[in-house]
Amino acid sequence: MIEQLEELKTRALEELARIQDLDRLEEWRITYLGKRSELNQILRGIGTLAPADRRTVGQIANDVKSVLEGESAARRAQLEQIAREAEIARERVDVTLPPRPIARGQCHPLSLITEEIVAAFRALGYDVVEGPEVEWDKYNFEMLNIPAEHPARDVWDTFYVKTTDGIPQGQVVLRTHTSPMQIRVMQARRPPIRVIVPGRAYRYEATDATHESEFYQIEGLAVDEHITMADLKGTLTAFAHAVFGPERRTRFRVDFFPFVEPGAEMAIDCHACRGSGCRICKNTGWIEIMGAGMVHPKVLEGVGYDPAKYTGFAFGMGPERVAMLKYGIDDIRLFKTNDLRFLQQFR
Ligand code: PHE
Repeated sequence: MIEQLEELKTRALEELARIQDLDRLEEWRITYLGKRSELNQILRGIGTLAPADRRTVGQIANDVKSVLEGESAARRAQLEQIAREAEIARERVDVTLPPRPIARGQCHPLSLITEEIVAAFRALGYDVVEGPEVEWDKYNFEMLNIPAEHPARDVWDTFYVKTTDGIPQGQVVLRTHTSPMQIRVMQARRPPIRVIVPGRAYRYEATDATHESEFYQIEGLAVDEHITMADLKGTLTAFAHAVFGPERRTRFRVDFFPFVEPGAEMAIDCHACRGSGCRICKNTGWIEIMGAGMVHPKVLEGVGYDPAKYTGFAFGMGPERVAMLKYGIDDIRLFKTNDLRFLQQFR
């Protein structure tokens, strides 16, 4: 019996040493230490032995039992540790991996140029205001000294808006320029007025490299006592120097707009040839960038201002055109085709 116990112990420990996982270990425990194990049977049979043998066999059997229990507990602790480490290794996150790049947006070139133009005027004390794109005919034309039969209306091919609620047809338009904001601002405020008005305007026009039916304008208006044409020229020259560079030259020539008198067109020297004449400036050396003029006395009277006391100047430019000149863009349609190869050049 003692031999049987020794053999059992050796066999059990050998097997235990080969066990690599906890399930096997449990099977091993049932085989060698369970209720129906060989060892348990021996222990239970001890009572039937001769009294002289009981003590020795009992002691050896109990020794074997405690060795097996001790060794298997140690093995279990070892295997549990290994399993824990394996789990930690499996769940490890490699924080050193470079992240996926975040797709970052950027400002549209028209937003950039608008911001730049507006900033130039803000530095001169102008407020930024905005107004409605769906506008009364009264503000878009009538109060700007463009009556219904006036031939000047032909210059602005107008989108008329279908009206309901008893408003007669033909009284609501998509504004053809930002100039109606001159009226709205003069009605809402009292001089001194200095405002810059960025916004969209619409004309019923065929699209080509320099025309779109939906486009932007930036309107400016200054009304105060003693404002003269010299203020207009000085202000717009300061703007041109801020946006295009201090070395640029400006030219003012007479032009006609019904809501200004005198009216002017402002040009800057051609960026390509610097005034000597080339294809871009059609050999004139100059590129027109905006319409301007002294606010017409009739317009001032229309909003209740006394033209003997107050004078002012107004101007309107197309930021698309300014951006095209500044960045050398040759097709206005590029602003709206959403081609990233184009857009990403402007940061
Ligand atoms: N509103 C004019 C246009 O769209 C531009 C302009 C604005 C001219 C202000 C003079 C004064 O052509």
